[in-house]
Amino acid sequence: MIARQSIDDVLNVAQIEDVVGEYIALKKRGANLLGRCPFHDEKTPSFTVSPTKGIYKCFGCGKAGNSVSFLMEHDSLSFTDAIRKLAQKYNITLQEDSVQNKEEYNEQQQRKESLYTALLFAKNYFVEQLTSDEGRLVGDSYFRERGFTQQTIDLFELGYSPQGWESLVNEAKKNQFNLDFFVDAGLIKKKEDGHYFDMFRHRVIFPIHDLTGRVIAFGGRQLVKDDKSPKYLNSPETEVYHKSHVLYGIFQAKKSIRNLNNCYLVEGYTDVTSLYQSGIENVVASSGTSLTEGQIKLIKRFTDNVTVLYDGDAAGIKASLRGIDLLLEQGMNVRCVSFPEGEDPDSYCKQLGSKEFKLYLDNQSEDFIFFKTNLLMQTVGNDPIKKTEVVKNLLVSISLIPDALKRAVYAKECSKLLETDERLLLVEISKLRKNKSHIESQIIDKEITDLLKTDVKIEQSYSSTQEQEKNLIRLLIQSGHKKFMEEATVADFVFKELREDEGLELEHPIYKQIIEDVKDQMDKEFIFDEQFFVNHHNTEVRTMAADFLTEKYELSPHWGESGLNIKTERENYVRDLQSLFLFLKKSKIEQMIKENLEEMLKEEIAEEKDKYLHFHIQLIAVRDDISKILGTVINYI
Ligand code: GTP
Ligand code: MN
Repeated sequence: MIARQSIDDVLNVAQIEDVVGEYIALKKRGANLLGRCPFHDEKTPSFTVSPTKGIYKCFGCGKAGNSVSFLMEHDSLSFTDAIRKLAQKYNITLQEDSVQNKEEYNEQQQRKESLYTALLFAKNYFVEQLTSDEGRLVGDSYFRERGFTQQTIDLFELGYSPQGWESLVNEAKKNQFNLDFFVDAGLIKKKEDGHYFDMFRHRVIFPIHDLTGRVIAFGGRQLVKDDKSPKYLNSPETEVYHKSHVLYGIFQAKKSIRNLNNCYLVEGYTDVTSLYQSGIENVVASSGTSLTEGQIKLIKRFTDNVTVLYDGDAAGIKASLRGIDLLLEQGMNVRCVSFPEGEDPDSYCKQLGSKEFKLYLDNQSEDFIFFKTNLLMQTVGNDPIKKTEVVKNLLVSISLIPDALKRAVYAKECSKLLETDERLLLVEISKLRKNKSHIESQIIDKEITDLLKTDVKIEQSYSSTQEQEKNLIRLLIQSGHKKFMEEATVADFVFKELREDEGLELEHPIYKQIIEDVKDQMDKEFIFDEQFFVNHHNTEVRTMAADFLTEKYELSPHWGESGLNIKTERENYVRDLQSLFLFLKKSKIEQMIKENLEEMLKEEIAEEKDKYLHFHIQLIAVRDDISKILGTVINYI
């Protein structure tokens, strides 16, 4: 039998959208996800998954339940097997519950209840102490001075722990409590001589609540600055307090987080209370420690959107950037805000007033990609190596995002921000994700190829290679014998170009023939002119020459499209020739891109695919270079 505690652990961690998402595709619809029901045939999706409620329901066939019942139904598993399957998925070690240790389990539950009781008792005591003479003078006045209202004090159940060493100890004794539970709850300590003493002394107290509002721990702030003791004293880990799974303020904030579909994440207790008091109720704190996966999962039960509020010091922000990555990894949408140097959300909220502060949050919060880029680029200057490091850093963040489409969007944004080739970034991202599952890499492939296809689609609107070859021959026939530069004729130039770039060899057989003939003629040092073509022994060439020489000089329709307006007929051949070769080169490259891409799609070995991809990137770069030159040539004309 699986231990009750283990079952609870599994149920707490299992995310319905994760579990269902393994079987069917889900799309976001408001707060829910929608997909095609796996339990009956349907064309329009009516299978709804609610991450916040942890349940699914099909409006078509009426099936409903949670993660466990989904697996039981879908995979025909028993309850225990469904739990085992989930435990495996989430890496949870299940404790087996033999008949003997059932007793142990009950004992454990009872012990936990005792800790909760001790914690509740302590909380009530601390709250009460705030109204004692000492408490009013020291604790309450401290809160007032910092602007806490009574409402805030009540809502967060703030308190005060008196100066002596045994205040809570005595109070607990008076009420005939077993002090060992107070020790286990981290409230008091036992000295070697058997004497007990208070953990929290002479501090204002911030109780830490779990989701259901039970007190599970405390944070105590010193009242006067004293370097000998910590500013904040926090409860140690106990059987009921697992720091990495707790967020300060979650109990008070959860409703608002769900309603507003966003969660503000701050560092400190007072940031939470202060913002809440200003009407920003969807706020929680990681309490100074670095963010954990468990804490993020807690937020994720209520929303996918997090806005991280950083204290205003750049070094501190940089040190905690890892938190963004963790959030991204959990599929969160992350926005960030920072505050002026030396300010934290609490102090700045007080300074601006709640209305202005809200505006500040709205105006200053930015998507993590902009925030991180700005922050990291501050120290880069013109150093290309440093810039590369920034790019890499950003790519790591992007690569962690589980959603392929989002990754592609961020890659695009990143390429714009840092003026880097988008495809290159996508390749790097896919490399960073290589270790992920096979399915994942298929998604990446699709994502990349889709993107690459658009490269070709756009460029196919340009003239085909054949058309460009035709233009070249036309020019050769019309103006081949004319002077191009100093001693050289147009034909000389054409042959020089063709010689220098083997890739430019013409494909059309007749055109090829013409080129051969002209080359022959020139090798024999015969002068050739229009008549050479008109009287050619090949009928096809003769007809073509006649056509070309009688037709009014016509530009390739694509030249016309690009806004050219060449007024005269043959005088422009010099400029035409230059751009013509560029167009020819470009269309050849485009053809290569297309062929390479087709090969890449056929290729199944990942490494080989990579090679095609790299070649693709090189080709694209060449093409873009040509386009750039063409742009200037065209402008020049
Ligand atoms: P105030 O100074 O009262 O405004 O608190 P703050 O939240 O602005 O403090 P700070 O920014 O220095 O720290 C942020 C959070 O880190 C606090 O709310 C605590 O949760 C935690 N923290 C700060 N100092 C200590 C410490 O000395 N020990 C421990 N354990 N935690 C601390
Ligand atoms: Mn502060």
